[in-house]
Amino acid sequence: MELPILVTGGTGTLGKALVPGLVAAGKDVRVLSRTARTGVAEGDGNSPGVEYIVGDLSAGQGIDAAVAGAEIVIHAAGSAKGDAAKAAHLVDSLQRAGSARHLIYISVVGAEETPFESCIDRATLGYFDEKRKGELAVSGSGIPWTILRATQFHDFIAAFAELGMKLPIMPSFSGFRYQPVDAREVADKLVELALGEPAGLVPAIGGPSIYPMADLVRSYAKATGHRRIVLPMHIPGKAAKAQRNGANLARDRAVGQRTWEEYLAEKVGAQKLGAERAGAD
Ligand SMILES: NC(=O)c1ccc[n+]([C@@H]2O[C@H](COP(=O)([O-])OP(=O)(O)OC[C@H]3O[C@@H](n4cnc5c(N)ncnc54)[C@H](OP(=O)(O)O)[C@@H]3O)[C@@H](O)[C@H]2O)c1
Repeated sequence: MELPILVTGGTGTLGKALVPGLVAAGKDVRVLSRTARTGVAEGDGNSPGVEYIVGDLSAGQGIDAAVAGAEIVIHAAGSAKGDAAKAAHLVDSLQRAGSARHLIYISVVGAEETPFESCIDRATLGYFDEKRKGELAVSGSGIPWTILRATQFHDFIAAFAELGMKLPIMPSFSGFRYQPVDAREVADKLVELALGEPAGLVPAIGGPSIYPMADLVRSYAKATGHRRIVLPMHIPGKAAKAQRNGANLARDRAVGQRTWEEYLAEKVGAQKLGAERAGAD
């Protein structure tokens, strides 16, 4: 009997694309996340062949049940803070269980190139430091591994812009540029990697184009029908300087096809449709 593939964070932005991709490839999937899921929700990645397990990788709770018997594990649970501890807890459980033969980790472009020398660096861009520590936990685990680094997802830029639109003036980090990539394309790549042999650090995946951050948040506001002034904010520290120098970009790996403009058109179209449906009810 084939054992399910464990996907941590299978209910998140990436996970929601990843889980159906694995199911379409004929795999059973076990999802670990903190929030309980029941029933079948459209577009939620729920489907026959998907088992949901509640556990907390930060607190180290419920992980043993999720990893029991798992041979292939995709670690896609993440958050703004604490990814090093999540990876360490997962690795610890996997080592004790002893069944894993391939651990796949999704990291971020710039994890290795962004320096962390001061509390300012950690306070501003500590996420990148955490992802690097997560990478080291995976590569030092003794379990055969694959690490894929991605640039920021379209949804991340959109979420940042949404937050900014709650303010009278939208903030943007001076000199920062992004190369947004579609989470579904990253998910497709992870499915391919999970079905293959452990490959170590594989070439990164980045979106098709690079944009100044100010252009991205401005275009998001405009596309969603808002008028906002964008305020440039200087972020101090060496980590921010590295990002201004493009540490978070993967110029030679602009393999993603779906553009920011296409993402915006689809998102705004879906929002309009939702509003029309709500109005008709
Ligand atoms: N977003 C980007 O631009 C980007 C770029 C490169 C790499 N990545 C990496 O891709 C991965 C997925 O990102 P995403 O944007 O899809 O994140 P997301 O939408 O925030 O989803 C995070 C997922 O992880 C789960 N999770 C969070 N904390 C957890 C914990 N302590 N224990 C168990 N599950 C937990 C969440 O479910 P619950 O909240 O229910 O626990 C959810 O399923 C992350 O590792 C991230 O670092 C993201």
